[in-house]
Amino acid sequence: ALSLPLLAILVSPSWLYWILVNGFACKNPKLVEADDFVFTGLKKAGNTSNAVGSAVTNVFVTEFPALNTLGLAMARVDYAPGGINPPHIHPRASEMLIVIEGTLDTGYVDSNPGNRRYTKVIHKGDVTVFPPGLIHYQQNVGNGSAVALAFFNSQKPDIITVANAVFGSKPALPIDLLAKAFQVSESVIAEIQSKF
Ligand code: GLV
Ligand code: MN
Repeated sequence: ALSLPLLAILVSPSWLYWILVNGFACKNPKLVEADDFVFTGLKKAGNTSNAVGSAVTNVFVTEFPALNTLGLAMARVDYAPGGINPPHIHPRASEMLIVIEGTLDTGYVDSNPGNRRYTKVIHKGDVTVFPPGLIHYQQNVGNGSAVALAFFNSQKPDIITVANAVFGSKPALPIDLLAKAFQVSESVIAEIQSKF
């Protein structure tokens, strides 16, 4: 027999009006409210007390469901003095980044065989772009903390941080494979793996 609360959910009109699109809840326009289109979570700086000295606050469809089917997303990045946003890729998006506060050394590396690095120090108000799928990074080279806003042409760009993916996968990549790939000893690999 169905419990009363379950029965209530099944006959509730709001339940009937919810469907999944792209795997995310899509609200019937008749039920949508202004608040559904407002995200208030970017006012606060992220906590940069960590090994890399930065914090990324995502506003992807996962945090802001109104983005579903709209093909865009953003993030706030806070950097402690000397902090870095470590080399990473977005498998589904190009990125534009504007410096809101401070000075960043930004860059990306293109594909084989050249693996050319493009790098530039940019300041408050400057905008840069990272092409889709390329490894890119930022480093706070100013005196104080720094803040940037990033924009993506995907509602769920996702982030693959190179060090975490390569040295922190679960289960771990074989240590002899990594030793050959990086041309170092297995003990060096083991030390790096122990950090992730
Ligand atoms: C910066 O590169 C970011 O993805 O937030
Ligand atoms: Mn990025």
